[in-house]
Amino acid sequence: MFETWEELEKSIENCKKCKLYSTRQNIVFGIGNKNAKIMFIGEGPGADEDKKGEPFVGKAGKLMDMAFETVGIKREDVYIANIVKCRPPANRDPEEDETYACMDYLRNQVMLVRPKVIVLLGRIALQNILGKEYKITASRGNWIEKKGINYLPTWHPAALLRDESKKIDFIKDLQKVAKLN
Ligand code: URA
Repeated sequence: MFETWEELEKSIENCKKCKLYSTRQNIVFGIGNKNAKIMFIGEGPGADEDKKGEPFVGKAGKLMDMAFETVGIKREDVYIANIVKCRPPANRDPEEDETYACMDYLRNQVMLVRPKVIVLLGRIALQNILGKEYKITASRGNWIEKKGINYLPTWHPAALLRDESKKIDFIKDLQKVAKLN
């Protein structure tokens, strides 16, 4: 584990810990307030994120920004990262060797940010952080405390694009964290 952001960021340059390096355009490390109280963890970069090197800048990200605005969260006040930092081809789920290889970067980010609350966006984030036994449908909207961090699983914003009715849940969940900011 690195004690500084500089060391951590340097350590990921040219990362070849898993096969995703060979198809990526950019590493999507993470962005936001490095002292944030609230951290968001998604799954992995899509095409837009891969192009830009920033998390949640595509369609799902735009929807997340709109939800942020609705509940009064500013993107620059929170920290946003993903389980894997490089885009899985054709947006497939990240594979176990990939999430395993990438997890130390995320652990180090969490250690440096020291958030009070981590919002887990979707099944992949939930199961990789808290364990495969957690199901997103059952866990969504329920606080889970582990090692001094309060986790709130919610829908992945891309799920809202497929199912409008999930937007209400998503906003409700974000309202719970917005008041902690
Ligand atoms: N979906 C994710 O899980 N993360 C991103 O950064 C973009 C889309």
